[in-house]
Amino acid sequence: MRRESRPAKRVAIIGGGTVGSGVYQALERNGTLLSGRLGTRLEVNRVVVRDPDKKRNIAFPREILHTGWRAAVEDRETDIVVELIGGTTTAREVVEHALRLGKPVVTANKALLSDHGESLFALARRSNAGLHYEASVAGGIPIIKVLREGLAGNRILGMYGILNGTCNYILTRMERAELDFDHALRQAQRKGYAEADPTLDVDGLDAMHKAGILASLASGMWVPPASIHVEGIRAITRKDIEFAARLGYRIKLLASIRPEDGFFPDEASGEGRLQVSVCPTLISEDHPLATIHGVDNAVWLVGDVVGELLFSGPGAGREATASAVLADLIDATRNQAPPTERFGTGGSLRAWDEMDSEYFIRLRVADRPGTMAAVAGVLSRAGIGISSIIQPEQHGGSGETTLILMVHDAPNRIITGALDRIGELPVVKSPPMSLRVEHFEALERTRNRDRGSVDAEPDREERSP
Ligand code: NAP
Ligand code: HSE
Repeated sequence: MRRESRPAKRVAIIGGGTVGSGVYQALERNGTLLSGRLGTRLEVNRVVVRDPDKKRNIAFPREILHTGWRAAVEDRETDIVVELIGGTTTAREVVEHALRLGKPVVTANKALLSDHGESLFALARRSNAGLHYEASVAGGIPIIKVLREGLAGNRILGMYGILNGTCNYILTRMERAELDFDHALRQAQRKGYAEADPTLDVDGLDAMHKAGILASLASGMWVPPASIHVEGIRAITRKDIEFAARLGYRIKLLASIRPEDGFFPDEASGEGRLQVSVCPTLISEDHPLATIHGVDNAVWLVGDVVGELLFSGPGAGREATASAVLADLIDATRNQAPPTERFGTGGSLRAWDEMDSEYFIRLRVADRPGTMAAVAGVLSRAGIGISSIIQPEQHGGSGETTLILMVHDAPNRIITGALDRIGELPVVKSPPMSLRVEHFEALERTRNRDRGSVDAEPDREERSP
């Protein structure tokens, strides 16, 4: 083991909640290990909170607990600033102030990066201070390092992810019929998985922030949150999960970063269009992403050189997130990972309305002759084909029943229009519920195109006379 030789690096942790306390404890637990690996000690000189008298699950030493973030950032003793307060207002001030002072920043704040990443990365470059954000996406999975370093020699042909631990936890608990939605959400909150405002989780916005960060890293063009189509998981019922299972699918909140018609935007040529969305999606139960349960996250991607890769692991919670923050602290201490993120203007984003999808549709309808014909008539006039129908046997005398339809590929705008018209039919008793079905065909087309271009190239021997 190497010996400590350099003076300690002092770390100010701004935010001592779930993640902040996890980082503090992990530094205590593995402090000696890290000193050996780094040749220097990491010492927490300040933990900044709103209310130092609040009852906490760990007791920070009173002398390091403070309330003013500015003093902690400006403290001459502070070498590295860790922003863990969340939100985009004060957090932005903290990060900008630290970077302007030339201090490296570690953050887990995906909302901040999604909203202001372009300008923050530019500031980090100008200040020549590192901006480290491994903990912002997929919790304990080191996916940022994978994209920035491990796969730097690949063009990413497509990437799909389960990026919100809270939603995956809720869907898993509902699937196993253990808890209803509200119960499962409360448990995710108690376990420290959810955001301070859990609507960010269940409405898909947290996954949208993360999808934007991954899409930007993979494509080299900045993908703003406003360009991402988002739907949350509130409308999903246990019945949807059950019917999807009967058809051979699982429902996941899926972030899709996929190329249009086989062209992933190319950083060099600027060609190609990207489609980025986050929505509850039916995935075949045979697909690797269908096996990701509980708080786990996963990223499934294809690189043009490496092929297919799957990364999975705990996606939220104090330990998983602390692990990612520690990795960033190590990089910041070694002064590694200088700010290299530069996002070009090549490529463009395709609007959701134009994209084609297959759908699972749930309807509450009058249980009488002619209902199916009325619904099928609307779909047929819109040019949408039905691939399967389930009408569970009805017990009791409500006079209503559930109808599940699977429909073939059609542009989202056509499906939305047809669903609006179906919702207006007198035989339809509540607004239609629809979920995308993903068969990963866009990615398959890109792979084939990529393979085709390699296969079409004559090899060296064939070319020589
Ligand atoms: P949290 O439990 O709500 O903790 C926030 C902490 O920040 C609290 O200690 C709070 O002080 C402090 N704080 C808030 N506003 C402040 C202000 N203006 N000045 C000083 N201190 C302030 O949140 P968290 O779950 O740890 O999340 C922190 C960040 O990590 C967020 O950006 C979140 O998105 C991200 N993240 C969370 C997870 C996770 O699993 N929880 C995973 C990955 C990333 P008090 O304690 O006095 O209220
Ligand atoms: N609330 C987030 C989630 C925390 O549930 O995934 C991890 O980013």
